[in-house]
Amino acid sequence: MTEGKRQRCATCCALVIFGAGGDLTKRLVVPALYNLAKQDLLPEKFAIVGFDHNEKTDDVWRKELHDFLEQIVGSGHGEFEARKIHESVWNKLASTMSYMAGDFLEAASYTKLRNHLQRRDSEAGLDGNVVFYLAAADRFFGPIVDALGEAGLTSQEKGWRRVVIEKPFGHDLPSAKALNQRILKVLNEDQIYRIDHFLGKETVQNIMALRFANGLFEPIWNRDRIDHVQITVAESIGIEQRGKFYEQTGALRDMVPNHLFQLVAMTAMEPPASFGADEIRSRKADVFKAVHPLSPDDAVRGQYGSGEINGKTVAGYREEPNVAPDSGVETFAALRLTIDNWRWAGVPFYLRTGKRLPSRWTEIAILFKHAPLTLFRDTPTGNLGPDWLILQIQPDEGIRLRFNAKRPGTEMHLESVAMDFKYADWFQQAPAVGYETLLYDCFEGDQTLFQRADQVEAAWAVVQPIIEAWAESATKEFPNYAAGSAGPKAADALIERDGRKWRPIH
Ligand code: BG6
Repeated sequence: MTEGKRQRCATCCALVIFGAGGDLTKRLVVPALYNLAKQDLLPEKFAIVGFDHNEKTDDVWRKELHDFLEQIVGSGHGEFEARKIHESVWNKLASTMSYMAGDFLEAASYTKLRNHLQRRDSEAGLDGNVVFYLAAADRFFGPIVDALGEAGLTSQEKGWRRVVIEKPFGHDLPSAKALNQRILKVLNEDQIYRIDHFLGKETVQNIMALRFANGLFEPIWNRDRIDHVQITVAESIGIEQRGKFYEQTGALRDMVPNHLFQLVAMTAMEPPASFGADEIRSRKADVFKAVHPLSPDDAVRGQYGSGEINGKTVAGYREEPNVAPDSGVETFAALRLTIDNWRWAGVPFYLRTGKRLPSRWTEIAILFKHAPLTLFRDTPTGNLGPDWLILQIQPDEGIRLRFNAKRPGTEMHLESVAMDFKYADWFQQAPAVGYETLLYDCFEGDQTLFQRADQVEAAWAVVQPIIEAWAESATKEFPNYAAGSAGPKAADALIERDGRKWRPIH
């Protein structure tokens, strides 16, 4: 995260992508590199090395990436400026690309990679700097880092070496700890960039600006004035073609200790003293450390059955490819957290996320305490409502404040109204798939938006009791919500027992 205007990266480096033929590379990493290239934000001296199991030539790999990019650019997503690839930008980017077939688990492949990198470095003048991007399946994270270390590729004698590690970082607290221990034997913490792509979203980064760059909000951002916080990350998509992955993962692991907790941390953290990466990351870790230990009563799970979304009938989770017909895996999770510190004690944070909900809708909604309404006791009200501050993360990025106003007329009649800020009205946003800032920051050596070992472990520690409770007690009630509905009844009960209600999912 840079202060001020971004300029082309001052560094030069190679970017080695493990999993060069995979989905993540095609869908997100390469499109983000293309967007950066278009804005002239890539390092001037740059080389991309694709590394994967299959044999193919440089040209075949480039063409695969080009064709995929063409497809997504052509589909008219907001992530790209025009419906056509800017061929001159692509050609320049493609000229930096080479491909190397290798086995992630074989030492000889890493010797080959070292030679390949030396060649690319002497051609392009990269000062020995390399980012290794692990876009491979997570079972390879530990072995790849070990092999890089054994091949001398992590040594920073000539130039820096950084490793980007994708999600999932572990499957629970013990496995996350074990992975940290393993990679920290080879790398220093300042070489490790653990990604959570929610931090690449502008609206998520903006939470810090909203809270700390304004005199208005921070004084009321606490238990004196806030009743509770609701965080919703709803998706209308199902599990798409990811049945195998999802059967091992489920909604809780897939979304909560990572993406939803990033939103919790941004909302709940204490003001950092500076933009220093460690300062910000420490403040976020403090939030997780202060969460009151969860008990099974603080969480509910759900699984979608068939239903209707946008007028289309969709199959239930158990009918999806590569899913067991009696699967007990959850596709919805809701949690009630409390944070035992001076700012938040007594203010519940309700979190929910799920697949096949009515729409794609991510928001952080903060409810302020009621005004004492004596003055208006006898006043007619229209749809009088409480004061909500809603941070709309996606889609329609913006911020909305709901409050009560007098309806024009001779009598005092109250009605709930809203003030709206929409990003699109104020800023021309550079097209982005969400990985641009993260890649740029990694080239620049800025770890602010990446997870430190203690943050990841503290987040897993919060959900560990739920993971264990759910593993021990299979639920017989699945499926318990219809696709297109707002989730299982148990989620309503979770919040209603505190006398509150979920906001609608729009
Ligand atoms: C991924 C999860 O990390 O995030 C997916 O594995 C989920 O299951 C996705 O769909 C959501 O990200 P976004 O940016 O589309 O909200």
